[in-house]
Amino acid sequence: MTEQKADNLMEKIVSLCKRRGFVFPSSEIYGGFAAVYDYGNYGAELSKNIKNEWWKAMVQLREDIVGLDSSIVMSPRIWEASGHVSGFSDPLAECKNCHARLRVDHLLEDAGVFADEKMSEEEINELFKANADKIKCPGCGKHDFTEARKFNLLVKSNLGNFTSDWDKDPVYLRGETCQGIYVNYKNVLNSARVKVPFGIAQIGKAFRNEITARQFIFRTREFEQMEMQYFVSPDKEMKEYEKLRQTRWNYYLELGIKEENLKWHKHENLVFYAKEAYDIEYNFPFGFKELEGVHARGDYDLSQHGKFSGKKMEYTDPETNENYVPHIIESSVGVGRTMLAVLTDAYTEEDVDGETRVVLKFPPKLAPIKVAIFPLLKNKPDLVEKAQKIYDELKSSYMCEFDDSGNIGKRYRRQDEIGTPYCVTVDFESLEDEAVTVRDRDTMTQERIKISELLEYLEKKLK
Ligand code: GAP
Repeated sequence: MTEQKADNLMEKIVSLCKRRGFVFPSSEIYGGFAAVYDYGNYGAELSKNIKNEWWKAMVQLREDIVGLDSSIVMSPRIWEASGHVSGFSDPLAECKNCHARLRVDHLLEDAGVFADEKMSEEEINELFKANADKIKCPGCGKHDFTEARKFNLLVKSNLGNFTSDWDKDPVYLRGETCQGIYVNYKNVLNSARVKVPFGIAQIGKAFRNEITARQFIFRTREFEQMEMQYFVSPDKEMKEYEKLRQTRWNYYLELGIKEENLKWHKHENLVFYAKEAYDIEYNFPFGFKELEGVHARGDYDLSQHGKFSGKKMEYTDPETNENYVPHIIESSVGVGRTMLAVLTDAYTEEDVDGETRVVLKFPPKLAPIKVAIFPLLKNKPDLVEKAQKIYDELKSSYMCEFDDSGNIGKRYRRQDEIGTPYCVTVDFESLEDEAVTVRDRDTMTQERIKISELLEYLEKKLK
């Protein structure tokens, strides 16, 4: 059995995701809806498992972090205070030949030139012109672009506005979940038993009018974020930041991501308020790209909301009586992006007796289905009944699947493709010896286990 990562890995992952019910293009029967995706039955399970693991690491196991679930639509003043209304934009240019819309900062990056997000339209265009000879349209290979224009990424809505020209006075779908955390910082401080340093964690939808939303679920216009904002005293900011960086790196290793597929990327040009910013990058099928941002943001967020709302954001330390606006360090990652990293890490092709076996080698805690139960033959009521009974017993502990269609070989292949760690088969011997065959996804080895000991056996294996 030889193991390898596939050629055209991205295409294979996209195809498997559709075929096996992980990810579907949105609104497909209407011709699709760009840069938005739906999760099928296994995708919904995988996404839920990813969110549960994050919540466990960030909230359940932490005495100093509490959860929050704030609304998607909030006062538009929040987005003015945060700087999103004036500055949350990407530079766009159009290829005059093939009319592809392209992000100029990405074109520059591909040519080895760094353009940072705080550059003005003018500065971006200067850089774009200065490096013209290095830049080609990725679609048609020509170099004939329009000037770069900055497009704001915030998505507008008419919620609660019954005038006909709501566009002039819009509310916004949140562009990041953390703003809901900042504006609830005082509520949490006054209601939860927390004191600085403490964190607030949240999982929820965010929306961005991404210009070039390609690469499957890596960059979408509707997505879920898992964000944790940690409130610290100014003098402890960098020490806590280093701790958070280490915590987040270890989190991915504990999640089961291969360390060789992770690396740090330090931001060279910081926004004016940031102290330091790093991304954890993952080796996606299209190369190392940002998986998560870990940022030291100073007191910018709370100070801005203090200024715009007129409310005090200071914190008084109960021991030292020191008064200050807490500084914030954040960890921010997308659910879909984590899902793509987990799928990439897990996707394996193996040569088994001259045939290719496709296996998603998910860590058991992330696998959508933990155990599949099969009667050897569909038309033998004794086997079906016994298998059904085992399924009924196991399903209260684990997500299980009962499958009696096709031959055993085909059932194994199907479960391999969705990453089920264990398959349990009830055969004729089971009727005599009250035991079943348990097959391990990764080694394909089979063990005979007493039905009375099956749950205990699986508990050990799936831990
Ligand atoms: N609060 C900080 C913040 O939102 P960001 O770098 O813009 O920072 C953080 O986003 C993370 O959210 C990214 O590392 C990525 O995992 C995810 N993310 C951002 N935009 C996304 C998009 N359009 N589609 C999918 N995930 C996205």
